Amino acid sequence: MSKTVLITGAAKRIGKEIAYTFFNNGWNVIIHFNKSEKEAKNLTEELNKLRPNSTSSIQANFNSLDDVIMLAEKSLEVFGQINGLINNASTFYATPMGKISDDDWNALIGSNLKAPLFLIQALHKELKENKGFIVNITDINDQQTIPDHSIYLAAKSGLHTLTKVLAKELAPEIRVNGVAPGAILEPPNIKLDENKKNKILKSIPLGRMGTESDIAKAVLFLADSLYITGEILNIDGGKSL
Ligand SMILES: NC(=O)c1ccc[n+]([C@@H]2O[C@H](COP(=O)([O-])OP(=O)(O)OC[C@H]3O[C@@H](n4cnc5c(N)ncnc54)[C@H](OP(=O)(O)O)[C@@H]3O)[C@@H](O)[C@H]2O)c1
Repeated sequence: MSKTVLITGAAKRIGKEIAYTFFNNGWNVIIHFNKSEKEAKNLTEELNKLRPNSTSSIQANFNSLDDVIMLAEKSLEVFGQINGLINNASTFYATPMGKISDDDWNALIGSNLKAPLFLIQALHKELKENKGFIVNITDINDQQTIPDHSIYLAAKSGLHTLTKVLAKELAPEIRVNGVAPGAILEPPNIKLDENKKNKILKSIPLGRMGTESDIAKAVLFLADSLYITGEILNIDGGKSL
């Protein structure tokens, strides 16, 4: 039986490329989505045409813990096993002091930190049994201090810490690692002007933005690396140096 990976936020962008990469390496794929139902269904159909019964999609809103638990339960039923979990889904926007609401806290902490933790908790027995892996997608800025982004960075640095703690706690059966992207894609809700783009490019020693594939390859590498745990790989063209 093919191994199965659950990838959160996998209907579009980086998550979609991770789904293609695992699929092309023989994995069954569970594509989690929230709002991108059409994209998730199209991707599921495309992959199932290439390899029947290889892909499924499940909707869940990570602002709700019930939805997170439901995602884990449904995922366990789809292919009868889970061997890997990739916590990729994320909400990203600025939250300047004085303008922070409870909804902002719930959205940014929910998708970037709370859902990964509770998904791991709901799936850890299954992953232990299958000697599986977890990859958390963090951010090279998660140890930085960027004004107006306190909640997002608190969530991502929490995910960074959680990766390290759980690598120790869930060993030796489950390997827990992270991938920290640098500048890969413009955030979905923000259009950068040319000046800002050039400034970003100048800050990257390798002289280009990263691609979805740069991230997906790193995730697959960690999934396949049986003697690596508790590591967070910066995939950023040297930006964090
Ligand atoms: N893009 C970059 O350059 C960059 C840089 C640093 C770190 N990263 C990290 O890399 C990962 C992928 O980046 P990306 O830019 O491809 O991500 P993205 O497009 O911003 O988000 C990925 C998916 O997360 C899902 N999501 C958001 N809020 C959710 C919620 N409340 N419940 C459930 N799902 C939710 C969305 O699914 P639906 O569309 O189905 O609603 C979305 O498609 C993220 O963890 C991000 O923080 C990216």
